[in-house]
Amino acid sequence: MPDREIAQPQTYYITTPIYYTSGRPHIGHSYTTVAADAMARYRRRQGYDVMFVTGTDEHGLKVQERAAAAGLTPQTYVDGIVAEFKEIWQLLGISYDRFIRTTDPEHVAAIQEIFTMLYERGDIYLDTYEGWYCTPCESYWTETQLADGKCPDCGREVVLTQEETYFFRQSKYGERIIELYREHPEFIQPPSRMHEMLNNFLLPGLEDVAVSRTSFDWGVHVPFDEKHVVYVWVDALFNYLTVLGFPNGENPVWERYWPADVQLMGKEIVRFHTILWPALLMALDMPVPKQAFGHGWLLFRDSKMSKSVGNVVDPAILCERYGVDAIRYYLLREIPFGSDGNFSNEALVTRINADLANDLGNLVSRTTAMIARYFDGLLPEEREAAGIDDELLGLAGSLAESVEANLNELQYSQALADIWRVIGRANKYIDETTPWILARDEAQRPRLAAVLHNLAATLRQIAILLEPFMPATGPAILAALGVGDDTRQSSWASARETGLWQPAAPITAAKPLFPRLDLEAELDYMQSILEADKGQESPAPEAAEESVPAPVGIATIQYDDFAKLDLRVAVVTACDRVPKADKLLRFDLDVGSLGTRQVVSGIADSYEPGELVGRRVILVANLAKRRVRGTESEGMLLCAEAPDGSYRLLGVSDDVEAGSEVS
Ligand code: MSP
Repeated sequence: MPDREIAQPQTYYITTPIYYTSGRPHIGHSYTTVAADAMARYRRRQGYDVMFVTGTDEHGLKVQERAAAAGLTPQTYVDGIVAEFKEIWQLLGISYDRFIRTTDPEHVAAIQEIFTMLYERGDIYLDTYEGWYCTPCESYWTETQLADGKCPDCGREVVLTQEETYFFRQSKYGERIIELYREHPEFIQPPSRMHEMLNNFLLPGLEDVAVSRTSFDWGVHVPFDEKHVVYVWVDALFNYLTVLGFPNGENPVWERYWPADVQLMGKEIVRFHTILWPALLMALDMPVPKQAFGHGWLLFRDSKMSKSVGNVVDPAILCERYGVDAIRYYLLREIPFGSDGNFSNEALVTRINADLANDLGNLVSRTTAMIARYFDGLLPEEREAAGIDDELLGLAGSLAESVEANLNELQYSQALADIWRVIGRANKYIDETTPWILARDEAQRPRLAAVLHNLAATLRQIAILLEPFMPATGPAILAALGVGDDTRQSSWASARETGLWQPAAPITAAKPLFPRLDLEAELDYMQSILEADKGQESPAPEAAEESVPAPVGIATIQYDDFAKLDLRVAVVTACDRVPKADKLLRFDLDVGSLGTRQVVSGIADSYEPGELVGRRVILVANLAKRRVRGTESEGMLLCAEAPDGSYRLLGVSDDVEAGSEVS
């Protein structure tokens, strides 16, 4: 090989399993893919030449049966499902580099070549198979492997099959695979899954595997014996190589990216990826992947998501209602990668409210609003440091290192917890330094500037580190801070630099990133979606979206419900009538650290607009934005009804600052 003159960036190859097309995509599938996407984004930001592959597994008896039941050809049937997968991945911001379909002609040709290579090497031979087959899992089992006579993976019925079959000499590779595990304990993660493989399969001794079928047609035909189709798992596993042009495709790049750095998968298919897959590769004298990571399941009401259980959660509905980044955040934060965990609507809404709207949202809006308000968006350069700054800056200084350490181990939840620790500390720093009090005293201007600098600089680091997890939110925060794209200040490496923040433009108060949600209403909504979806074999998304949230009854509320209201003191800076709307007044309000707001209120019968300017009123600050007679209204003013039916605005005395919380 000639010497390379220019240093090439290091490659990083990451894969998801390819998804079965016998059903529609659900949030469980999104779990693997979002995790892979976050890792791919992280590695790209670090400067790696990343290859991120996902795709669809389209052959097999199950697909053939589903297509027949729908009155479609298998190809038409899978084309429809694949389009849905691609749509969901686009919606979720999945930045895959290549998408492979096992029906791609290049893949089909490559599988035929590979099958022939293995046959010619003597590792595939013809024999008769008698054993148990689980159609939903596309898996063969021996009598002893069955659990109470059922499939040990899914618990469903198995059928006794006898047929002439090609076999792969898996048994030949048992010892080498055990050696692989011993020499590279990092090959299977988490380590518990390795013990499972050793004890259940490898140490008892591997058997040869039936790798062709004659009882159905929808698959890759064995080129030298056309009545056989290749076993779907052999067809599917090789996608990781055929997608890169192996063995003889056009523009092959497999030599550049293979072996894969990490292959992600759910725990139920670790067996295929850590026994059959390395054995097949060894038979071809190919290196094995560096790591297989078997994550846990996303459970819904304690069982795995499945159409037959009626608990499938549609990611498109979730993204539309809550936003893509909120869903990505929830998936990566809620459950430690590797463990099982429940997907719960309540936990989702709670995380959105507490972590996103409250912790992160408040930090962004308070920081930008105060810079806008106290310094017209431009902070002076010179800064006064104080001891109280050290803890925040210290935490921010070591954040990138700990996020990287956790991401290197695929501990997404831990990495996010690290980031939120700093967000929490920064919010506390605002409470401790009380910038609004510093702002009253001219002598404290340098200190006020330093506090806001520290906040903006910390937020810049947080925004960069958030980008792999939340690809829209990270850049949105940087933009709100006046940090341009692709500048040194937005580079991944600069996330290690504390105190760095030089905005390119004046800062304005950022709009709330995540609206606060009403838990009860959301739970009712999600329940109505599930009801509408239940029992439908293949529900159209439109049908689910049409369903209306169930009305919420009037009931006593808990303190927590009351605490969801963000009530603030606001000063009326302008007030006028809304044209062509007799009952409406339009207010401009100063809400202190939350910036300015426009609110429309139906009290024109009760007040003259001029008499209200300067009044301190009470604003429901976290009410979702809406349009009232064509005028935008962001919040609601609290009023009491007088005996004559007119309204009186609630207010407070003049010594209370605009923006003060009401509780
Ligand atoms: N087609 C095979 C994989 C072949 S790879 C060479 C397959 N497909 S699958 O669609 O059933 O699953 C694909 C991935 O989605 C697996 O990693 C699986 O674990 C994951 N999930 C499907 N449902 C899931 C949950 N409810 N929770 C977490 N992951 C889940 O297996």
